Amino acid sequence: MSFDLKHLPHTFADLVIANPLNAAVIKSYCDQPPAKPLLLAGPPGAGKTEAARVIAQNHFLRAQGHCMHWEHNAASLGKDFEDKIMAEVNYQMFGNSDKALIVINEIDEMDLRSVQPKFREFMDTKRHLIRFVATTNHKNRMMGAMLSRFRVLAIDPPSNTDWVPRVLSMLQAEGLNPTIQDVAQMLQSFNGTARDLIDLVEETVIASKVATL
Ligand SMILES: Nc1ncnc2c1ncn2[C@@H]1O[C@H](COP(=O)(O)OP(=O)(O)O)[C@@H](O)[C@H]1O
Ligand SMILES: [Mg+2]
Repeated sequence: MSFDLKHLPHTFADLVIANPLNAAVIKSYCDQPPAKPLLLAGPPGAGKTEAARVIAQNHFLRAQGHCMHWEHNAASLGKDFEDKIMAEVNYQMFGNSDKALIVINEIDEMDLRSVQPKFREFMDTKRHLIRFVATTNHKNRMMGAMLSRFRVLAIDPPSNTDWVPRVLSMLQAEGLNPTIQDVAQMLQSFNGTARDLIDLVEETVIASKVATL
């Protein structure tokens, strides 16, 4: 398995979330989700999709049911979102009384005039059946009436300091034993996206394995 896939976050503790207030809300959706749909809004690479996936995975563990196509991108969902989503909702709810959970990434990709009003109505009529967790890079491209149905969390990309504990645990999982100061120093001058950061961690692991041969 590739290094980045191996180190994808699985639990709330694996997520790197800059703001402690946001972390508390995301934790509440992992533990015992409030009824209100959740929208994670912020720039690309902030970790929105990974947080939505961890919330969903927690839900599926709790519900102990089935799930199949629970994660969608609004751009590919298109106009007939209702059929696609309801097929999954029925699948998740077969023999299971708990609500279904659906993740919709880049929800602003729904057409503002033709799709968003229908989606807002869909959310209202199915609210007793579906928990929605959505992400967006462009909150301003969303219809106000749809936005107001969500608990909106503005997520900022974590700083290098925020990443230190997570990087330490990734290195430890790879059999390395750095101190927290070593990791802080390793990340000090790093200037890139979360994806580049994972690559840097991989390079560090490879370099240390070469050094110990
Ligand atoms: N806690 C984490 N641990 C490991 N990788 C992470 C973590 N958070 C984010 N990533 C990685 O960072 C990248 C960006 O995260 P993503 O959730 O896709 O951002 P967004 O949806 O906000 O654009 C992805 O490659 C993801 O796997
Ligand atoms: Mg995303």
